[in-house]
Amino acid sequence: MIPYGRHDLRPADHQAVLEVLESGWLTGGPAVQAFEQDLASVCAAPRVVTCSNGTTALHLVAEAIDAPPGAWWICTPSTFVASIQAGIYSGYRPVFVDADPETGLICLESLAGLLEAARDHEAVVAAVVAVDLNGHCVSINDLADLLDLYAVPIVRDAAHSLGAVDADGLAVGGNDRVLATALSFHPVKLIAAGEGGALVGHDDEFMDRVKHLRSHAMTRQPGTPSDYRVDAVGFNYRLSDLHAALGRSQLARIEDKLEKRRALAAVYQEEFSAVADLRMVLPSEGTLSAWHLMSVLVDPERRWDLIAALRDAGIGAAHHYPAAHLQPVYSELLPGLEGTCPGAEAYCASQITLPLFEQLTPQEVKRVTQTLKNLL
Ligand SMILES: Cc1ncc(COP(=O)(O)O)c(C=O)c1O
Repeated sequence: MIPYGRHDLRPADHQAVLEVLESGWLTGGPAVQAFEQDLASVCAAPRVVTCSNGTTALHLVAEAIDAPPGAWWICTPSTFVASIQAGIYSGYRPVFVDADPETGLICLESLAGLLEAARDHEAVVAAVVAVDLNGHCVSINDLADLLDLYAVPIVRDAAHSLGAVDADGLAVGGNDRVLATALSFHPVKLIAAGEGGALVGHDDEFMDRVKHLRSHAMTRQPGTPSDYRVDAVGFNYRLSDLHAALGRSQLARIEDKLEKRRALAAVYQEEFSAVADLRMVLPSEGTLSAWHLMSVLVDPERRWDLIAALRDAGIGAAHHYPAAHLQPVYSELLPGLEGTCPGAEAYCASQITLPLFEQLTPQEVKRVTQTLKNLL
């Protein structure tokens, strides 16, 4: 079976983890600091705080924003539920904004309507979560131009898009109009650390707060051997040195990884160029995608049958993601959501994930595309 994604471990990765095992620092040591520095350089941002995974990264941002309970946490439904759960953990109300049916990315017209509604209801908006679905960039400057009118911060969910480049030439994480950018190092992501996450930011005060909350909001008392003060309900969301060393070793190969994914995506594009019953989900003009997932859109009536048939043919097709606002957890919390995000619903109803990872060969891509074309 060709899987839809697979991490790539090299001897250098094994060596990096072994060095940590022998160093005496399993957590809170130099590997974490070194990984944070390297991420800051890749993301062209002054501050990085690593943490235990992408979900805890988003939760740390939600906590550090410190908006009142019930404040709106606005997010598209065409994402993994973690983007939404993080706000709920902090007592915010999930509010779903529609997405473009061709890309699953946030729809600014729909957002403008929600922001007006929030103003009419005198609701506080904690943040808008901009998800770079599939590794394709949200247009951050257009989003920031809109949000500036309402003084609402942007949280960028870049679990899929580390290494992508926005239309203005800035690396994901590099735009200081974003309050914080969340990364994930889950094995199926570009950089696999086992589990792991990070926040990238430009605002020192905010990033200091995130860092404080990551480790029980604890300040050591200078001049005492082990006394400390805790001034908020914080968390243990730290990344271990073992995970950091693995992540850092992988990060050293990021350009190679991105290049391979982009080359394979070009083969997919070429192979699918004349197929009437299928649309490939593409990044917008002028941006460089990180190509996390290879998403295509098909007739929703045939979607599950096509996934099953691809699997029967040895191709690990998958689906990312079922529309989040239709999950029972949210429909019980906020009934009547079906039909409220037609663009996102159309996207999610027709999406199929095809294999894309660095070790995949162009020949295997052609096998995938030919199989799907025959099925169509
Ligand atoms: C869009 C998105 N956001 C957040 C996350 C959460 O990341 P993690 O699995 O590291 O907690 C994921 C993970 O798949 C994701 O796809």
